[in-house]
Amino acid sequence: MSAKIETVAIIGAGIMGAGLAQLFAQNGYAVKLHDVSIDALDRAVTRAGNNMAMQSDFGWIPAEDIVPALEMMQCTTDLGEAVSKADFIIEAVPEVLELKKNVFARLGGLAPEHTVLASNTSTFDVMAEMPDAIAGRVLITHFFNPPQLVPLVEVVRGERTADEVIETAMELMRAVGKYPLMLNRYLPGFVVNRIQLAINGMAYMILNEGILEPEDIDKAIENSISLRLAVGGPFATMDLGGLDVMAASARAMGVEPPPALAERVERGDLGVKTGRGFYDYAGIDEEEILARRDRRLMLLLDAYMRGLKD
Ligand SMILES: NC(=O)c1ccc[n+]([C@@H]2O[C@H](COP(=O)([O-])OP(=O)(O)OC[C@H]3O[C@@H](n4cnc5c(N)ncnc54)[C@H](O)[C@@H]3O)[C@@H](O)[C@H]2O)c1
Repeated sequence: MSAKIETVAIIGAGIMGAGLAQLFAQNGYAVKLHDVSIDALDRAVTRAGNNMAMQSDFGWIPAEDIVPALEMMQCTTDLGEAVSKADFIIEAVPEVLELKKNVFARLGGLAPEHTVLASNTSTFDVMAEMPDAIAGRVLITHFFNPPQLVPLVEVVRGERTADEVIETAMELMRAVGKYPLMLNRYLPGFVVNRIQLAINGMAYMILNEGILEPEDIDKAIENSISLRLAVGGPFATMDLGGLDVMAASARAMGVEPPPALAERVERGDLGVKTGRGFYDYAGIDEEEILARRDRRLMLLLDAYMRGLKD
């Protein structure tokens, strides 16, 4: 059983902290937003109001919900005041390990003993750096910018993180409409940034070949795989294309197909067209699978054509 969360404190009101404060306030949590800079706090509240106004224009929320949500956000430059009643804290100060360690050391003394201490770090294994006194309730909740909109949150446990702390974090993420992905151990870059790194690395290689400008490469991605990946991840997409085709295409680019691909091709599990690939499609009509993919892509293209293009 995980603890009931009523008050969430956000430490650092920058790009991520502002969006996090908005997210929790919009979902009915009392939010304490702390920063060392009053300007940052002011900007965060203004930005949250503007973002919610946009959501209202989109018909996502009623306009009359904006002021009550903003009233759920209380700003303070006093760390003790921010965390004294917090049930869940998310640290979102700049990506400097010593700074984060210092903030967590202070949180250990200022927050109630039941409070979960989460970090939004993109890179550090903060759990390994924690004193034993608080290590059981420290974990990473890695949101993506803008955190009030992007669904995924990578929830990373440390070796000493207690089970109920993970459970509480997972439940809280779901309660604010997120899709939490639990990682049982720290991995540099977690999952998504590692994949992003691979894409960026290849974009640099193509740039270095001197054939295309950055804008051309961006447009190529925007008009192809960024849309396609929005309706299915790499494995679902490979299943749709055919794993034999994927293996041949890898070889043509000088890459030996990895065992997970080569073994499936060897067995004849070629994806949707044979009823099994990375996924099992037994009993599902191929035309239905393709139609589902196409419907999702058309919905996305519809929005894209309407204005996401620029
Ligand atoms: N920006 C992104 O796209 C992104 C995405 C995912 C994760 N992250 C991670 O989120 C964290 C925050 O990133 P950001 O981009 O929001 O940074 P940012 O620089 O926009 O904001 C950091 C805020 O922390 C404040 N701050 C500095 N020292 C402080 C202290 N001791 N106590 C309280 N507040 C303090 C600053 O005044 C600033 O307002 C980092 O760990 C970053 O790696 C960022």
